[in-house]
Amino acid sequence: MTKKLYGLGRRVLTFPAVHPCESISPSTLLISLIDLAHDICTYKSEFFSTNKRNALKAIRQVHNLLIFLEELRVESADIPGSLVISLSELHLTFQRIRYLLEDCTREGARLWMLTKSDRVSNQLRLFIRAIGTALDVLPLAAIDVSSEVKELVELVMRQARKAIFETDPDDKRVLNDVIRILGRFEDGIRPDKSEVKRVLDYLGITKWSQCNQEVKFLDSEITIEYLNVDKRSELALLSSLMGFLSYCKCIMFDLVDNEASQQVSKKCCNNMLGGLTPDDFTCPISLEIMKDPVTLSTGHTYDRASILKWFRAGNSTCPKTGERLQSKELLVNLVLKRIIQDWSVDNGVSIAEESFHKNRDITRTVLAGSLAAEGAMKLLANFISNRLLEGTSEEKNKAAYEVRLLTKSSIFNRSCLVEVGCIPSLLKLLSSKDSSTQENAIAALLNLSKHCKSKSMVVESGGLDFIVDMLKKGLKVEARQHAAATLFYIASIEEYRKLIGENPEAIPALVDMVRDGTDRSKKNALVAIFGLLMHSGNHWRVLAAGAVPLLLNLLTSSDSEELITDSLAVLATLAEKLDGTIAILHHGALDMIMKILDSCTSRAGKEYCVSLLLALCINGGANVVALLVKSPSLMGSLYSLLSQGSSRASKKASALIRILHEFYERHSSGSTTPVLPQDRSVHVW
Ligand SMILES: *[C@@H]1O[C@H](CO)[C@@H](O)[C@H](O)[C@H]1NC(C)=O
Ligand SMILES: *[C@@H]1O[C@H](CO)[C@@H](O)[C@H](O)[C@H]1NC(C)=O
Ligand SMILES: *[C@@H]1O[C@H](CO)[C@@H](O)[C@H](O)[C@H]1NC(C)=O
Repeated sequence: MTKKLYGLGRRVLTFPAVHPCESISPSTLLISLIDLAHDICTYKSEFFSTNKRNALKAIRQVHNLLIFLEELRVESADIPGSLVISLSELHLTFQRIRYLLEDCTREGARLWMLTKSDRVSNQLRLFIRAIGTALDVLPLAAIDVSSEVKELVELVMRQARKAIFETDPDDKRVLNDVIRILGRFEDGIRPDKSEVKRVLDYLGITKWSQCNQEVKFLDSEITIEYLNVDKRSELALLSSLMGFLSYCKCIMFDLVDNEASQQVSKKCCNNMLGGLTPDDFTCPISLEIMKDPVTLSTGHTYDRASILKWFRAGNSTCPKTGERLQSKELLVNLVLKRIIQDWSVDNGVSIAEESFHKNRDITRTVLAGSLAAEGAMKLLANFISNRLLEGTSEEKNKAAYEVRLLTKSSIFNRSCLVEVGCIPSLLKLLSSKDSSTQENAIAALLNLSKHCKSKSMVVESGGLDFIVDMLKKGLKVEARQHAAATLFYIASIEEYRKLIGENPEAIPALVDMVRDGTDRSKKNALVAIFGLLMHSGNHWRVLAAGAVPLLLNLLTSSDSEELITDSLAVLATLAEKLDGTIAILHHGALDMIMKILDSCTSRAGKEYCVSLLLALCINGGANVVALLVKSPSLMGSLYSLLSQGSSRASKKASALIRILHEFYERHSSGSTTPVLPQDRSVHVW
């Protein structure tokens, strides 16, 4: 199958055939035509899940012509022009036939092609007619081939002219079965297992991985179709079929192929923040990266400008849930805001102009896409929830893995799974002794915890203790990483930041992870700590856990620019309070920070450096300023930030420059009035 990759990236049922150019020599044209015909004939042995008879009929015609083409000689000088025309028309049609056969045998597209069975048979008829038309201009009398071959060509012509390609009656029957099953989903009724099985058998879908492949194919079609406003009904059908296959995947094929599950665990480690993706940064209304993310009372976050526009238009509901809002109060989502800023700066995205992933509309995931898809998902969620609760330990593991797949990005899917009560069962699975079960359960929780209702569900089910436990004792590194990222998501709610901090082991475990983890673990732990610091009551805890020397150490020992930036971010936040400043100064870090300001290449890193120095001056007082003034390079760095940095950086830089200037002037004029309150001046070791 893999040998046939002409149309890689081509959408199914599109035929981008090209006319052979006019200057092509007849012999080159003939050779290419013979190649094409050979290719088409090899499809004879492929598996056709639909339109089998029609396809074989078409291949037979091409095969007959192949015999003619192989006997044809075009080397002589007086080739009739009409022969060349005929051959190039055939060439064009053969290309189209090949594309169509490729689609009919495409793996992953079987169910979709079943729904197109009618169209495919129609297409085949048109293509075979086109062959007849191309042969009409063939000057058969003037061509030197055997009389048997001439007869064969005439036979093809006759058959092509009256070609009938009827919709395959078996295809029709099975498609009706599918439609009936979708109707069951719409009514919320479990379809009959043997009926579902018959459909899958007919299509030759006999394994979990095949089913999964079909789901992926439909998902990518939905992504493309979503841009196409006048194809809404197609979208609904795609969603319904995807729901149908997901249902089959879980219920018919309990056995996940090993190959498939390994793929996923590899892939998820590349995600930034083990699960946080740029999709999470976009406003569900404008689909742009949020400049000023604000959270409504429903827990959903939007860009301020978009949600205000929504309100001004007279709407008073939450766009995502449709819930009527009790209050239009907007809470700034500080954590998200700062992370987006870092991310944007480091990825060179200028927030003002760039829109990211515009075509990956996430609002589409709020709804299931169709009534049948909604019904299928609900039945599926119930099934999975049961398995999580009552299955054997192996079944529980697989169910957790399915939750993980289903919650990738769909808000609707997440809420279905939360509603049927998956969270308490998943939390329970965290105490499994099996490393794979642990990992699947925490990964599922991680993705669920992006859903606002899940956060409270996790907390109310006593989940924080389990997650902190996973953070410390997870058998796999990935499980520990996911635990840190989950805490980060839960910490987006102020009340929970406080609760997490009050767990005596949470912050120390995160700090341990910064010390001992892999780079990815360190990153997740740092971001979680950063989130927790938004609650001021957590400052002393982070300090008490010994974060400062660790972070300072990371600044000099890490090769990862990203980790350095994150460490600076946490240090800058810690320095905003007096005890943080004291701890940082206590470790004699001033020189090092100034050096990093010089050497650091990321803009976000430089910004955090300046914020950190500014906070140290404000809290540390004259003694700190006196040391900074002595630095030969600092002023240069600050001035260059004034012109290059983001406005946030230049504001901080200019504030710091002002402090340094004032100090310098007073000092040289012999004034004794302190620039900064003396009582806040800290002794610098
Ligand atoms: C207000 O809501 C309605 C549907 O609820 C929607 O069609 C309309 O576009 C919204 N207005 C704005 C300006 O967003
Ligand atoms: C949501 O669930 C459906 C099954 O109902 C599944 O086909 C789809 O892939 C899921 N979507 C995401 C984005 O996870
Ligand atoms: C969670 O969802 C993201 C998309 O938001 C997906 O790429 C990822 O595979 C899922 N995470 C895990 C750990 O399965």
